[in-house]
Amino acid sequence: MKLTARVPATSANLGPGFDCFGLALDLCNEVTIDTEAEPRISWEGEGADELPTDGTDMVSRAIAATVERLGADRPGGGIPPFALHGVNRIPLARGLGSSSAAAVAGVALASALIGSAGPGGDPAMTFAVAAELEGHPDNAAPAVYGGLTVVAEGSVRRLDVHPAIRPVALVPEGIRVPTDAARRALPTTVPLADAVFNVAHAALVVTALTGGDLELLRVALRDRLHEEARLSLVPPVRAVMGDLRAAGVPVCVSGSGPTLLAFEQEGVPVPHPGAGWRVLRLAVRPRGVEVVSA
Ligand code: HSE
Repeated sequence: MKLTARVPATSANLGPGFDCFGLALDLCNEVTIDTEAEPRISWEGEGADELPTDGTDMVSRAIAATVERLGADRPGGGIPPFALHGVNRIPLARGLGSSSAAAVAGVALASALIGSAGPGGDPAMTFAVAAELEGHPDNAAPAVYGGLTVVAEGSVRRLDVHPAIRPVALVPEGIRVPTDAARRALPTTVPLADAVFNVAHAALVVTALTGGDLELLRVALRDRLHEEARLSLVPPVRAVMGDLRAAGVPVCVSGSGPTLLAFEQEGVPVPHPGAGWRVLRLAVRPRGVEVVSA
């Protein structure tokens, strides 16, 4: 059997929706497993020369976790040996959910192989296993469900994004920030006024994204819980964010950074930040992970 999982990049937080909001972007990794090929692990694309090939990568760990969860009580338990090949398009350690995408791909592939999932898979199980393994439910949710997602108390609510919403990911090429370092930079307590600010702005983000209101989005994306601490780790990114805001562009830090997520209006493109930045104009992806017979 040969199966391919296609799974999207995601941008978590969306400014004030820290640890709750996520958006699926139309930039997909593809992972293929082939139970008839000689077992081996190989990668191409982003991070191909640095990802492990000994089974400790996130896709393989997610496959193992899923087998343990679903396969243990089945006759023969588990799945046959397989070759795994990943085509990676999501930049690594840049705040675009590459690690959640890998976890979601692994869970979706394993459950398809075990045969526990119907044609559409079992999204709730895929989300639960991937989020627990990878640790960031706000990335796992849009990777599984597509669109705009809100995670609250472990449950996911998915919303459609208005077609006028056009995300632009601005990826600083030479800068990486591991998520755990970006989390260590955060304060452990926040002033009540800042929490109130974020509650109000988070509600406005949902209104702006579902209603296609770019003017509102410019105001709504403001955050007081995490962005300042993250930007202080990467001064060149902070400078670009300041320039974009001064130019009236709706923009936030993508996930834990250092990528910035901006939004453009037809006829008003987001300006290129200059040398050393990759600009990815990515539609919102309405669908999450898909597994197809290769
Ligand atoms: N909400 C998480 C964070 C996302 O900002 O740390 C990590 O990708």
